[in-house]
Amino acid sequence: MKIDILTLFPSMYDGFLNESIIKRAIDNNYVEINIHNFRDYSTDPHQKVDDYGFGGGPGMVLMAQPIFDAVEALRGDNTKVILMTPQGIKYCQKTAKELSLEKHLIIICGHYEGFDDRIRSVVDYEVSIGDYVLTGGEIPAMILTDSITRLVDGVIEEGSHINDSFNPDTNLLDYPTYTKPREFNGMRVPDVLVNGNHKEIEEYRYNESVKKTERIRPDLLEK
Ligand code: ADE
Repeated sequence: MKIDILTLFPSMYDGFLNESIIKRAIDNNYVEINIHNFRDYSTDPHQKVDDYGFGGGPGMVLMAQPIFDAVEALRGDNTKVILMTPQGIKYCQKTAKELSLEKHLIIICGHYEGFDDRIRSVVDYEVSIGDYVLTGGEIPAMILTDSITRLVDGVIEEGSHINDSFNPDTNLLDYPTYTKPREFNGMRVPDVLVNGNHKEIEEYRYNESVKKTERIRPDLLEK
């Protein structure tokens, strides 16, 4: 899996790419993640990437040319192009799974007031991470990259997706987990988890998952 991210702020990715599971996935060649400053693709003598919007209005608009040229330079035979925008379809685990099966993604991070609408002609998916507006698409692109990378075969332990804290296949939230000590601040680990009876543990966990989902995310049970 290769992910190319187009941004005006590449250094925002320094920490993200150099820690924990993402770093390990890169080092072990499960994913290749490249950060590109699309200013480098600007044909303007001053490498300008934005300008005032036609028709007036506040803020600057990202120009089509640098993004078009960057996408054309990076595109391969099996590339999907994603535009991060609060106007996109709402991102969820199911989409993460689908995207984790792709060979190559180009993710475009918007910034400022928006982008020239003609950028949409090179885009396959417009994706929003939720109904709120951030200062740019960099954090949303990290969210996609992180959630997709952990689903790539081999990146995390086999089977641990099944126990994800939210499982889109069952539409249930995860059951509660505990570690040592068995008693902390007067709160005891449920006896069923230490009795070694796997069938009872499984039943307990399933029931706890259902109860938790009913309490916190009843909308998931309706699905
Ligand atoms: N850019 C700014 N806000 C965003 C959001 N909620 N999702 C995707 N991209 C964005």
